[in-house]
Amino acid sequence: MPRDRHALHDAYIIALILAAAVAIIITVRWEAPPATAIVFVSLLWASSLSVINLRTTVVVMMLPVMVACIIRFDAGTSAVLAMFGGMSIQEFRIIRENNPPYLATLKLLLNRAITALCAICAWLAFHAIWPEPVVALGDLRFIVAAVVSGLAWVIVSGVIVNFQILLSTPTFRFRVDPSIVLGSVSSTLPSVVMGVMAAAMYEYGGLVPFALAELFFISNKNYTQRALVQKENAEQINCTLARIIDSKDHYTAGHSERVAQLASHLAEACNLSRNEVERIAYIARLHDLGKVNIPQEILTKPGELTESEFAEVKKHPGWGAELIRGMDKIYGDRDYRAILEHHERYDGTGYPYGKRGEDISLWGRILAVCDAYDAMTSERVYRTAMTTDAARTELKRNAGTQFDPKLVQLFVSKVQG
Ligand SMILES: [Fe+2]
Ligand SMILES: [Fe+2]
Repeated sequence: MPRDRHALHDAYIIALILAAAVAIIITVRWEAPPATAIVFVSLLWASSLSVINLRTTVVVMMLPVMVACIIRFDAGTSAVLAMFGGMSIQEFRIIRENNPPYLATLKLLLNRAITALCAICAWLAFHAIWPEPVVALGDLRFIVAAVVSGLAWVIVSGVIVNFQILLSTPTFRFRVDPSIVLGSVSSTLPSVVMGVMAAAMYEYGGLVPFALAELFFISNKNYTQRALVQKENAEQINCTLARIIDSKDHYTAGHSERVAQLASHLAEACNLSRNEVERIAYIARLHDLGKVNIPQEILTKPGELTESEFAEVKKHPGWGAELIRGMDKIYGDRDYRAILEHHERYDGTGYPYGKRGEDISLWGRILAVCDAYDAMTSERVYRTAMTTDAARTELKRNAGTQFDPKLVQLFVSKVQG
């Protein structure tokens, strides 16, 4: 970072810290009794123990507590409670491990200042629309005030942090990513709603019902986040496996992804649910997983396969399905059958079991059509690619023997029509 830019960055941080300190001194009236303050800070600590430790997530987790704080207490008290409540051991550890002592202290103070400024801006936004420190669930102006206040917190936090990055990275340009803005808004609103409900609990029931409602929300949100992280991990494993399959043979590179696209379109044409459509694409990427067990020289052999080599190739649906079965936390029975049955034929002459008709699972039949179509229209080591017209004719010619005729009909009319 250039020297003048470095100085500008540090000056910006110091200015933010001073601004937060001045704002607190001017506005604080210590409206929260000590016991109440301790409960609020404890709940904020519990909220910060989120699974995904991103700034926006921490904000979203803090908001349900802070909405009640902003409604009931003065701006300075809200800022002080948010500052203490927003601290976590994890934050201290990460900052201390990655920065020299002077910078670590500055960054810790900066984080406190950002939280305090966000709380004060959110307080100002709320009380500009709804000046009274009371909950009025039936009044639209009160609800609007709560929503605007939550959004103000997220926007102020985003702007401050983006400017800090702008000043610390020479190549960084300030830009607004609409998908991030939409994501922040959609995750802020449920937190604001929860905050309003918790604030009502506090007003009508007192501290204990309020704390219980908050704890319920925190544990629920943590569970949802944990599930989200698990889903993302599973998706990463799925994509990595798909890349491993395609890397075995450069002639089939991209085959798994194309079959996934075709399978999701065909599943849509079958009017399957959104979940099923997504899941078929997910599992289609792994339909040839068992090929990782087939020797490279067989997979890439230019000429015709011998009987024993073909016998080896025919084992790949079973191998793939067994590998899937070994990951039963990620893949289920329908995934297992789809992979196992993607080379079965409608007339019962396929492999590995010679199943026929609707004894073959729907997902297996869908994969069979899409797999064959992509194989025909891609260049292989032993032949050139067919035209899409010729491949469609070939599918129709084999409808009722190799393929489910209803699926071929849907495929040629709606997927590749
Ligand atoms: Fe296959
Ligand atoms: Fe395939």
